[in-house]
Amino acid sequence: MSCSRTDYERERERKTEEIEAILRKYLPPREGMQRIIMEAMEYSLMAGGKRLRPMLMRETYLLFGGEGNLVEPFMAAMEMIHTYSLVHDDLPAMDNDEYRRGRKTTHVVYGEDMGILAGDALLNFAFETAASAFEQYPDKALLIGKALRVLAGKAGIYGMIGGQVVDVKETGHAVSREVLDFIYELKTGALIESSMMIGAILAGVSDEDVKKVERIASNVGFAFQVQDDILDVTSTSEVLGKPVHSDEKNEKSTYVTLAGLEEAGKLVETASMEAVRLLGELPGENGYLAWLIEKLIHREK
Ligand code: IPE
Ligand code: IPE
Ligand code: MG
Ligand code: MG
Ligand code: MG
Repeated sequence: MSCSRTDYERERERKTEEIEAILRKYLPPREGMQRIIMEAMEYSLMAGGKRLRPMLMRETYLLFGGEGNLVEPFMAAMEMIHTYSLVHDDLPAMDNDEYRRGRKTTHVVYGEDMGILAGDALLNFAFETAASAFEQYPDKALLIGKALRVLAGKAGIYGMIGGQVVDVKETGHAVSREVLDFIYELKTGALIESSMMIGAILAGVSDEDVKKVERIASNVGFAFQVQDDILDVTSTSEVLGKPVHSDEKNEKSTYVTLAGLEEAGKLVETASMEAVRLLGELPGENGYLAWLIEKLIHREK
């Protein structure tokens, strides 16, 4: 069955709502002497956001014939890790931004101390959440273990954190394309890669297919970060829900400063279309996933 664009738009809305419900289900109750931390976690996590990573995870799971709810705790965990990366990215010591997802940033509302702790809490709780899959699906322990390894690795020093380290250290001066590619691959590519790889792993695919998925997601991640840099220059804070010109303020080198707006736009398109092409080479089909990746080329937020 072929779907028109508007059908896919509606599907995206429905799928986003489903993800919101999953996130809510896995959030800790606000109780105990430490309840302020649960409030700060919920404040940052439930502020809205595109939910792209859990969506890519589930769609890859479906592409490979994954069934049931095994993927859900990992979807929630991924969005918690992504949200923690944003909470810390916005801290005064990092990008020092005051708006995120259309609200004041967590550290502005709850204080810098709770901002740091809310990020830490989301990271730790992500692993508690993902590991709860062992209790729900004891017969899938091997796949869950593999997925946990990827979740941890891609968020860590060889993944997102590693990228943020170089991003922060290379601030204030021009950087080579090689350094920029390293930063993009890690700070943004890594979590998008683990999202899609975990979807594939939990569906039980071969290591070879997981590698192919990693390459697709790497292209998606690169395009996603370049488009983020473009929007930082061309959009408005009302549309984005976060400040514009943050990169200029922080003297960041980006693909826009390196190659110019027009060339950056072309790179977004090339990398996204490469991802769609590689997706077409995989066994199985998911028209919605191909549509989503293409849709991100001209995303406005
Ligand atoms: C923002 O990610 C940080 C980047 C990696 C560019 P998103 O643009 O996915 O942020 P949300 O989740 O929609 O708020
Ligand atoms: C951040 O990149 C990527 C993360 C790992 C959080 P940016 O600093 O460009 O993200 P935004 O623009 O603040 O969302
Ligand atoms: Mg940053
Ligand atoms: Mg930032
Ligand atoms: Mg940015």
